[in-house]
Amino acid sequence: RIPEPCALVIFGVTGDLARKKLIPAVYDLANRGLLPPGFVVLGFARRDWGDGDFEQIARAAAEKHARTPWRDEVWARLSGNIKFVGGSFEDDAAFDLLAQTLDDLRDSHGIPGNAAFYLSIPPSAFPVVLKQLGRTGMADNDRSGGWRRVIVEKPFGSDLQSARELDDLVDDVFTADDVFRIDHYLGKETVQNILALRFANTLFEPVWNSHYVDSVQITMAEDVGIGTRAGFYDSVGTARDVVQNHLLQLLALTAMEEPTSFEASEIRQEKLKVLRAIVPPKDVAKDTVRGQYLPGWVAGERVKGYLDEDGVPPTSTTETYVAINLAIQNRRWAGVPFYVRAGKRLPRRVTEVAVMFKRAPHLPFQQADIEMLGNNQLVIRVQPDEGVVLKFGSKVPGTTMEVRDIAMDFSYGEAFTEASPEAYERLVLDVLIGDKTLFPDAAEVEASWAVIDPLEEAWEGTKPEPYRSGEWGPRLADKMLGREGRAWRRA
Ligand code: BG6
Repeated sequence: RIPEPCALVIFGVTGDLARKKLIPAVYDLANRGLLPPGFVVLGFARRDWGDGDFEQIARAAAEKHARTPWRDEVWARLSGNIKFVGGSFEDDAAFDLLAQTLDDLRDSHGIPGNAAFYLSIPPSAFPVVLKQLGRTGMADNDRSGGWRRVIVEKPFGSDLQSARELDDLVDDVFTADDVFRIDHYLGKETVQNILALRFANTLFEPVWNSHYVDSVQITMAEDVGIGTRAGFYDSVGTARDVVQNHLLQLLALTAMEEPTSFEASEIRQEKLKVLRAIVPPKDVAKDTVRGQYLPGWVAGERVKGYLDEDGVPPTSTTETYVAINLAIQNRRWAGVPFYVRAGKRLPRRVTEVAVMFKRAPHLPFQQADIEMLGNNQLVIRVQPDEGVVLKFGSKVPGTTMEVRDIAMDFSYGEAFTEASPEAYERLVLDVLIGDKTLFPDAAEVEASWAVIDPLEEAWEGTKPEPYRSGEWGPRLADKMLGREGRAWRRA
């Protein structure tokens, strides 16, 4: 589907997200022919730029980061539709000019009032920008004669209370239907494939429950450190940065019931039920591990410890790794632990959901023949080698009855010739079309904070366990599973 003629207004257009993801996504959409004939990108930032300056910067960003091949003619078509308005967020005149510029697009570009506002800005700037959008009437569908939508980047609050305050603030200016909360993990092809795999097949769903599943492990490992984001990261930590959103969304898709249809509201309702059924651990000291990276080696390179990163206070107790044992209180999952872990400066970048099945109730083999037989596993590899792996036991060729684990491996790259769109490309298009399926709603965001808040409270005043960069997090995380007779999968 192609959106109606519209404008995409990006606040914070000089930031990393705009440069690396949003502008390249616009180029990729144009390249695939998915933008309407009347389409304008309007950048807003505190810079003394003209349209031409912004166009050049946007071009460099698209050339460097776009996923689809570079074609001059595609950019030539876009370049006349790139505009810039300069000013600070407090500057009424700049916002009046922005409103006027949007109105003028009706005559100049045939855009009948449709605009999406992307808040690619720090959360502290949300109130002032929302106020300006309200004051100028830019958020008003009736006044504009078209649709007006707002896209809010995470972090959506820093706890349940601040998320609610933020919801109120956004709801004061936009109607709930026009608010799109971004969790870019939901835009990833393999994350959407969790639903396809579960609900398009007969094979998996009958065993997708506590009768057959022993435990689920959800891993989001990154080899990178915090880069230049100390200011943001140190006040947030791993649980708030990626568990509250990306990992709990992965968990919800893995554990939810079948939706009645693939309508946004039906999927969100099922996810919400699971999120509300999550029970945070009672014994936080036993069932969670927080870690912080020390100096070490990652991919053959010597790297700094967290406390030596630029901008991190030397006494910081912010975690860069977290492992949590979560329970889901419902009939399907009672008694099945969901182990989630995320961390920076781990040996490699990998995100996966691993469903670990129970052992066969009886194994009529000699013990020596099944030494190399583990639990059956279904692993959904979200990145980087997108695909699905099924692990099961198979006879080793020969005269003995030795049975050993083997892997059946489906890889997106090999099975499909079309490259998957980048998550942001998919999500930006969905906003412009008005499809909310891949956007968590306020209730989901709040339910996720309700899982994280008690943990943050219990962690208050505690110190994270140090782990060497390039290792799989603190040893305590292994002990946490070891105590329950399990081990982390080697991701
Ligand atoms: C972001 C987090 O949401 O996701 C970052 O703020 C993290 O800390 C990033 O690095 C990872 O995204 P991806 O798509 O590279 O897995």
